[in-house]
Amino acid sequence: PHLNYDPFSLPQRDHPYPVWSAMRDEAPVLWSDAINAWVVTRYADATRIIADTETFRNEGSTRSLATPPREVSDVLATGLPRDELRSTQDLDGPEHARIRKFLAAILTPRRIGGLAPRARQIADDLLAPMVEQGGGDFVADFAYRLPLALITQLLGIPEEDGERLHHWSTQKMALQWSRLDPQDHVRAAQDYVDFQNYLVDLIRRRRAEPIGDVVSAFTQLRMPDERPLTDTEIVGQMMGLIAAGHETTTNFLSLTLWRLLEHQEVWRSVCANPALIPGLVEEGLRLESPAGIWRRTSRAVTLHGKEIPAGARVQVLLPAANRDPDVFPSADVLDVHRGPEHPHLAFGRGIHYCIGAGLARIEGKAAFESLVSGAPGIRLAEGFVPHFKPNASQRYLERLTVEIGSLP
Ligand code: HEM
Repeated sequence: PHLNYDPFSLPQRDHPYPVWSAMRDEAPVLWSDAINAWVVTRYADATRIIADTETFRNEGSTRSLATPPREVSDVLATGLPRDELRSTQDLDGPEHARIRKFLAAILTPRRIGGLAPRARQIADDLLAPMVEQGGGDFVADFAYRLPLALITQLLGIPEEDGERLHHWSTQKMALQWSRLDPQDHVRAAQDYVDFQNYLVDLIRRRRAEPIGDVVSAFTQLRMPDERPLTDTEIVGQMMGLIAAGHETTTNFLSLTLWRLLEHQEVWRSVCANPALIPGLVEEGLRLESPAGIWRRTSRAVTLHGKEIPAGARVQVLLPAANRDPDVFPSADVLDVHRGPEHPHLAFGRGIHYCIGAGLARIEGKAAFESLVSGAPGIRLAEGFVPHFKPNASQRYLERLTVEIGSLP
């Protein structure tokens, strides 16, 4: 049978598990017209590709799926040059190492650990009105707001700009990884340019008057050849941090809660024993991994008999690799007891390993501790059916409608 991977099409978009499984079994390296990339689904291949940073490069791997139509490129042309708008995930070699070191000095374990009480406070504040109203949409009322509040604080961005940044960042992701009809496409391009202009303005103000925030620090950073970053490069880095810093966590929190509430017996065991929460966080990340990653080949390479040419885009489908039964027994089951040495790949691995993993874990712990203590009677709304936004890179649950009642 001819396998076709198309994450935009239904039923794959809402229920990708059968196609992932078929790909792992029958076509571990599969070309997808829909996303213009070779797709890799087995755990062993995922780790091998991630480790081979000479053959599988990050640069040029996250460009948009298709050339945009004229009306859209006209709008984009009013913004910054797109090829120069690169985030950490688009860099290789010494430039990547320099930015990574810079970010690691900001996101230290000590600073991130110190945010735990604040994360819990924000979680409790977001949950309270939901409890009062007897439920709501967990995605809109909670899941994006917690990580957004923390990433804006960490980056030193004015809190009142959070909603705008969230909107722009969501539109950027749609522009890059979705399929949009012409009107929405132009609007997303305009939002993307507005996002750039906002950041350029912020960067110029910080260049004039540094205040010790992340943008000010970026203006003082020197690359390995001693040159400073241009405004455009800082915009690219900041966009990457704002998007990576909250969109993936939004999806992680919603997807994990969805699976947990589907299995009320697991939810009750976590409520009875909150020490299970760290195990739940890791298992949620594995079972419903929010994101795949992208690479570009620097040379032709043969994998499972498929000849991948040089310059080709490769997607390592981490959500599929994390359900590989060769590594995870009963891979489709939510099992919060898999233990602390959980080898899931939800945060990637190696030199590009997620630099925000510690922060995401703290957010997950805060969210589920808050739910366990503040809303033990939470359940999926009657007749809830999960739907996903069309996106080639991340898994966006559109809504998660819940009811919060008293315990049965
Ligand atoms: C990199 C996933 C949260 C910032 C990555 C990568 C993955 C990932 C898979 C590897 C990319 C690659 O190999 O090309 C996730 C998930 C998250 C999450 C699933 C939430 C559950 C965060 C947060 C931040 C962040 C909260 C905030 C600072 C980054 C950055 C990189 C990255 C800057 C690029 C690192 C590099 O290229 O060296 N993330 N992430 N992420 N993540 Fe996260």
